[in-house]
Amino acid sequence: MKNEKRLVTAALTYVNNIPHVGHIVGCHLPADIFARFSRSYGYDTTFVGGSDMHGTPSLMTAQELGVPVEVLTEELHKVHKKIYEKLNISYDIYSNTHTKIHEEVTKDFFMELYNNGYIREGEIEMFYCEHDKMFLPDRYVIGTCPHCGFSEASGDQCEKCDSLFSPSELLDARCKVCGEKATLKKSKHIFLILSKGVEDLKKWVESKKDVWRSHVYAEAKKWISEGLKDRCISRDITWGFNVPLKNYENKVFYVWFDAPIGYISLTKELSEQKYKDLWLDKSSKIYNFVGKDNIQFHAVFFPTMLLEHKKYNLAHNVVGLNFLNYEGQKFSKSKKIGVFCNALLSDHDEIDIDALRAYLTTIIPENKDTDYRWEDYKNNTNSELVGKFGNLFNRTLNMIKNYFGGTLNVDEKSLDNLNEFDLEIIDALHTLPKAIAESYERAELRDAYKLIMSYAVKANGYIEKSAPWNLMKEEKVEEAQKVLYLALNVCASLCIVASPIMPNKTKTLLMEQIGLALDPTLNDIYHLASEFNIKKGHKIKNVYPIFERVDNEKLEKFKNIMSEPFDIKEYFETNKK
Ligand code: 2FM
Ligand code: ZN
Repeated sequence: MKNEKRLVTAALTYVNNIPHVGHIVGCHLPADIFARFSRSYGYDTTFVGGSDMHGTPSLMTAQELGVPVEVLTEELHKVHKKIYEKLNISYDIYSNTHTKIHEEVTKDFFMELYNNGYIREGEIEMFYCEHDKMFLPDRYVIGTCPHCGFSEASGDQCEKCDSLFSPSELLDARCKVCGEKATLKKSKHIFLILSKGVEDLKKWVESKKDVWRSHVYAEAKKWISEGLKDRCISRDITWGFNVPLKNYENKVFYVWFDAPIGYISLTKELSEQKYKDLWLDKSSKIYNFVGKDNIQFHAVFFPTMLLEHKKYNLAHNVVGLNFLNYEGQKFSKSKKIGVFCNALLSDHDEIDIDALRAYLTTIIPENKDTDYRWEDYKNNTNSELVGKFGNLFNRTLNMIKNYFGGTLNVDEKSLDNLNEFDLEIIDALHTLPKAIAESYERAELRDAYKLIMSYAVKANGYIEKSAPWNLMKEEKVEEAQKVLYLALNVCASLCIVASPIMPNKTKTLLMEQIGLALDPTLNDIYHLASEFNIKKGHKIKNVYPIFERVDNEKLEKFKNIMSEPFDIKEYFETNKK
């Protein structure tokens, strides 16, 4: 085991709906692959995630559906959890932000900032509905756009002409809940003074120049150079944690104040020791995986909170991702454009989770936006997983079974007469797992996948060039055995290096087919990927194709299942009965 302790976090998803594939590739999957790799490489790794329960979107959805917001978020939290489990996202804890422990951690965090002089009061003007007796967040207000005259513009933006304006410019403002007139009224709030921490923030961001991806660094620099304005961290809504100050009993914390503190609370919920090791001990390393629209909060806002609070560690790396499109278009639930995750809640034969994870890995939006394309899913399964990866295992194991009754009576010490092809594949065994590890380590997961496939191609090439079928015909049995022994070791190595991406299939291949008593998802196992793991006299187990080809008919079925958006209204109506 390495000494380093790592905390991997995935952004806490809102639970006003269920995730679509964009959320998976834009955060949960890359975080999971990285966490799995870190464990396998021997880092003492903890991976936390959870649902972001608070915020206006959940409250509005609950009101629209006529469901209490606690019920809505609790129910959707369970749905989210199930989906991530189905996708094999290996969270050590998947909890949520509406817990006692999180309330305590958030309030303590706030009081520390307050006592250190980083909080001030201020007044803002907001729409108020006399009928509902409540202040209306922007999304609760509709009116006429001051630019194009569209009558359904919301609070501060118009969907029709895309313009942004200040709420006071909105004409004929109405409350979205009851339709009555909304009037502007002053309300007292608390603000986080960001400017006080800015020098420390600048230093920290600068120290990340060569650690972060360039777009994350650039975004942080941009926010800083625009000047950090104090941020209002209270809201006049009824859902969230109350601000623990006199005269603020009816206000709650802004969702982006409590959500990132959630990473701390989740670690604490997991164990007090982990909380100390990962948040207080300076030697730990924190990796935040976040979607494109979350970068500013993780590279500027939350770090400033941490710097001003002074007690906790800041992230080592903020792995910011970009957006996923669908066949060249934006995901849209209402237009049924996209790939949704509700199908994962029931069992469907058409869904092969590891084939899906492998394809999704090829489109992780690491440096720019990417596209989900069904044709690419089909091609990846057929040409990469079946044609390259699966084929290598299938032919190697079949030949061992057919030529040698499943048992090879050699090991690396008894190998002699090594030719240039043998030496080349041995060199690949020694060097490629290291190169793959370097890609994983940089969170360049698409590259890791590409290298894994090129490793399989190399091994297939070795078998082609060595042609054990000819060696057998020529009665060069020893030589044929040597080739298959080397190929089998590469197969075992591939199971270890590909396990973070395809945890199920690689485990089956290594344990049920190759027949080693070695679970590739275990901690600190990666170093074995560069070694000879097959002992003399080893007997392989079962041989069958591990991936299935996808034809057009299967693709169509899969596509239909995954293209049906989640009907939240129907879900709650059915669940109420
Ligand atoms: O964009 C979102 O879904 C937010 N709920 C992410 C929060 S990340 C973190 F800070 F908790
Ligand atoms: Zn109203």
